[in-house]
Amino acid sequence: MLIDHFHNLNKARSPYTDELKSILNLEDARKAFDEISTWNGYKPTPLLSLKEIALQTGVKKIYYKDESSRFGLGSFKALGGTYGVLKFIQDELKIDIGTAVTLEDIHKGKYKEQISRYTVTTATDGNHGRSVAYGAKLFGCKCQIYIHAEVSFGRQDAMEKLDANVIRVNGNYDKSLKVCKQESELNNWHIISDTSYPGYTKYPRDIMAGYNVMSEEIASQLEEEMEMPTHIFLQGGVGSFPGAICGYFWEKFPNNNIKFIVVESEHAPCLIRSAQNNQMTSVNIKKETMMAGLSCGEPSLLGWEILSIGVDDFVSISDQLIPSTMRILANNNPPIEAGESSVAGLTALIEIMKAQDIAEKIKLDSESIVLLFGTEGATDPEIYNSIIKAG
Ligand SMILES: Cc1ncc(COP(=O)(O)O)c(C=O)c1O
Repeated sequence: MLIDHFHNLNKARSPYTDELKSILNLEDARKAFDEISTWNGYKPTPLLSLKEIALQTGVKKIYYKDESSRFGLGSFKALGGTYGVLKFIQDELKIDIGTAVTLEDIHKGKYKEQISRYTVTTATDGNHGRSVAYGAKLFGCKCQIYIHAEVSFGRQDAMEKLDANVIRVNGNYDKSLKVCKQESELNNWHIISDTSYPGYTKYPRDIMAGYNVMSEEIASQLEEEMEMPTHIFLQGGVGSFPGAICGYFWEKFPNNNIKFIVVESEHAPCLIRSAQNNQMTSVNIKKETMMAGLSCGEPSLLGWEILSIGVDDFVSISDQLIPSTMRILANNNPPIEAGESSVAGLTALIEIMKAQDIAEKIKLDSESIVLLFGTEGATDPEIYNSIIKAG
């Protein structure tokens, strides 16, 4: 069920501005791609065409960027936090040593000793923390992670297996972020956060550039016999992920008039509320959504700057439909492992196509070519299996 829909009258029809380029631009996306694509285990993730599901849904085509295999971490977040850690290490070494250091020398282990003294930290509902922990392990620094009361033990375990020290905070995501900020100030730890706020934008910007490795891959994959999407559905937590993808496609394909639709859970609708109020608006999370990655009450400053004028429509959806959409993908031929946060886009698409008046407003019809992001696989296998089996 669609809970809320908001058509954004502030949507800019003009090309991507210089102001937006200072947040995120194609050159930085390319740099992130050039770096990340050299890492061990790098492989472009598949862009699948869901033919049967498109037929049943009533659109021409559905492309699904399947991130379940990304670096063996199970989600696209592996691209952002890890890259953020590397960029932080490069900056910090420059301060320590007094001259710029190359990423190549960091990879070669030239600064192993100095790096082992740094501690990176973040608040997370799982996926971002796993990526920061992976980066810390890969590049050799310490890692301190803050999770909120409802983060599953499976997700905690995944971060601990990467040698992170994980602290569970009594409260929601926003509370865990608060504690993370306080503790890092006291201990001189370095926050590598996927959300930005006044005074903290450097690494969230790098992280967003890292996410656009997906966009770089998609741009190449589209050249190989695939058609340009008319609509891109983007699930939102704090808005860094949708902001990154929206900014990339807007800048790269200015004349394609692609429609961007942001999808949130009814329990964490901070982006749709911000759009409705025409200013960044936080919401109090009263109930945790089962889409753990989307359970955020406070928009990211940078993400919001792009989304507020780049997005055509915002929707929020009920959690109730998430298990059945996960099972649709699990039963696809070939089967697709899609975690809870992964299926928000497909769920919204199915529901919008049932609500004719909204579909018309969004201009979704049998000619539409829809791009979806399968942002995670079974990031908590126990929860995933119990949902799939219950069907
Ligand atoms: C699997 C998954 N999808 C989507 C998102 C949303 O990304 P953002 O919080 O940058 O909007 C997250 C965030 O953690 C996530 O883990």
